[in-house]
Amino acid sequence: MTFNPQIPSWGKDFSENYINELLSYHSWLSTTGIKTGLISPKNNQFIWDEFIVHSLYFYKIVNDLNILSQNIFDLGTGGGIPGIPFGIVSNQEITLIDIKQKRIFELERLISAQKLSNISAIKEDAEILLKNNEHTIFLMRCYIPHSSLMNLLEKNIDNNKKNTFIVSSNADTVNNLEDMFHVKQEKFLINNNEYRYIDVITVK
Ligand SMILES: C[S@@+](CC[C@H](N)C(=O)[O-])C[C@H]1O[C@@H](n2cnc3c(N)ncnc32)[C@H](O)[C@@H]1O
Repeated sequence: MTFNPQIPSWGKDFSENYINELLSYHSWLSTTGIKTGLISPKNNQFIWDEFIVHSLYFYKIVNDLNILSQNIFDLGTGGGIPGIPFGIVSNQEITLIDIKQKRIFELERLISAQKLSNISAIKEDAEILLKNNEHTIFLMRCYIPHSSLMNLLEKNIDNNKKNTFIVSSNADTVNNLEDMFHVKQEKFLINNNEYRYIDVITVK
């Protein structure tokens, strides 16, 4: 089935030079990714719009905030979402984290085959990183529910004061801890007519 590897207007300037690399990753997700259970079976257009275009917006946020020099971790990366598209368009050092070793092996094979030298993959419990890292950007797409994340951050508030959390979200997310956290929600198109949301969370 053919599909349209479109990029919405917000992402054209930083993605267009990397379309071939993004298409190679798309091809891997739609074959190996499905075969090895990293993603559930989806059609090519869905994989492009929902996984790749959505991931590119994580990069747009970090680039707009001008904080690219910090450590970047993609927690609960699964098939490398959003970390692989982020790393492809940014050339930024980025570490993919998943608790399942099998997923890390698949990602290491992809990184080596596609020569993505700025990206590495490590088996680790994301909670350990959330408790111990400072001056760090944490990307999370569909990793844990918003409320669980906020509770975890609340418990580890001191070491998270200088971290930035960029987290997939939805329109009706409520910040129950607004005395502690600043949450800025971004709404963007992943194709001609479907919107998605990402929250940018920092400690006040
Ligand atoms: C729903 S998947 C999301 C995958 C990907 N981010 C995406 O958007 O498609 C959640 C991933 O988090 C991983 N995971 C669950 N608990 C984790 C933990 N404590 N530390 C690291 N990864 C974890 C799972 O193995 C799984 O790959």
